[in-house]
Amino acid sequence: MSETVAVWGASGNAGRELVGILEDHPEVGEIEKAGRRFPKGIDHIETAFLALPHGESAKIAARLKKTGRKVIDLSGDLRFSTPEEYERWYDIPHPAPDLLPVPYALPEWDTGQIESSELVAMPGCYPTATLLGINPLVQAGVLAHEARIQVNAVSGFSGRGNQPMPEVQYGNLIPYAVGRQHRHVGEMELFTLGHEINFAPSTIDQYRGMLVTITAQLATKGICDEMVHGILEDEYRDDDFVAVLDDGELPTFKTGAGTDMCYIGATADNCAATIVSAIDNLRKGAASQAVQVFNRMHGYDEAMGLTPNQPAEYTTSCR
Ligand SMILES: NC(=O)c1ccc[n+]([C@@H]2O[C@H](COP(=O)([O-])OP(=O)(O)OC[C@H]3O[C@@H](n4cnc5c(N)ncnc54)[C@H](OP(=O)(O)O)[C@@H]3O)[C@@H](O)[C@H]2O)c1
Repeated sequence: MSETVAVWGASGNAGRELVGILEDHPEVGEIEKAGRRFPKGIDHIETAFLALPHGESAKIAARLKKTGRKVIDLSGDLRFSTPEEYERWYDIPHPAPDLLPVPYALPEWDTGQIESSELVAMPGCYPTATLLGINPLVQAGVLAHEARIQVNAVSGFSGRGNQPMPEVQYGNLIPYAVGRQHRHVGEMELFTLGHEINFAPSTIDQYRGMLVTITAQLATKGICDEMVHGILEDEYRDDDFVAVLDDGELPTFKTGAGTDMCYIGATADNCAATIVSAIDNLRKGAASQAVQVFNRMHGYDEAMGLTPNQPAEYTTSCR
């Protein structure tokens, strides 16, 4: 029997994308679109997706958790383990500290936590693209001791929510929050084993899409293209939503846009590795990744209602 789900923030960029995916999901029946007022009756809702601004989301999550609903939070409210870390990066007291910690639900890092959880935190869009690209090298220990990780990122303007953006001009690329100002720096550094991140995000005049270029010094000159590729391929061989491109190929901004995939290209040269990762900020960076997690929480096929294993289009050469 199909289940009733609710989407808080359904009128927003991420929420609208999510509703579109859920409408075609074979196990989803009714989709309740919750507005700013908490609905009177929620007995019929089995799972709630929260696509709300940070600061608001955790308050709703706390109310829903008391009623035993499954909750998938797309905001930044529940990504840090402690209220102190949250306050350090979000500049406000945590709205529901008793909820912490909850699993950080990047499906490709499954440790069985997603399946057994009632409440999970979805990763941010920049961290999704960045961590899927660099984390296998961090874990393999091939980065130079204390190497900084430089992350240059370009996002579609839907990543900035419904805020008016008068500064976005057609044909322009707008840097913002460069250095260590962006909240996602703190989120990414939760997983980089002490490697600091320098982050340079920009917004482009496209609605959707994200291209992240990551560079980091390698431990020795002997670590070549082939080894870096081998690490990435071993990591993602069994994952349907991450594709490592052939040696010499890089994804472009358009490669990930409109897909549920993360496409990764890599090259290693002169002691440094460069990883290029492309996603759709609204899909693998938000809505379709949340549906991957929804599927796992319910024991459905992870790909139900989604489009995995899509071959890459719009690639370019790194030579
Ligand atoms: N956009 C992305 O690429 C992306 C990627 C990953 C994660 N996320 C996260 O997803 C969340 C939503 O992002 P978005 O880009 O979709 O933002 P958005 O376009 O600005 O949408 C925000 C949604 O939240 C609702 N809302 C705003 N203030 C509220 C309040 N005080 N109480 C209840 N509802 C409120 C809005 O409703 P109204 O229509 O009534 O204003 C709207 O439906 C954010 O936490 C964001 O960090 C976004």
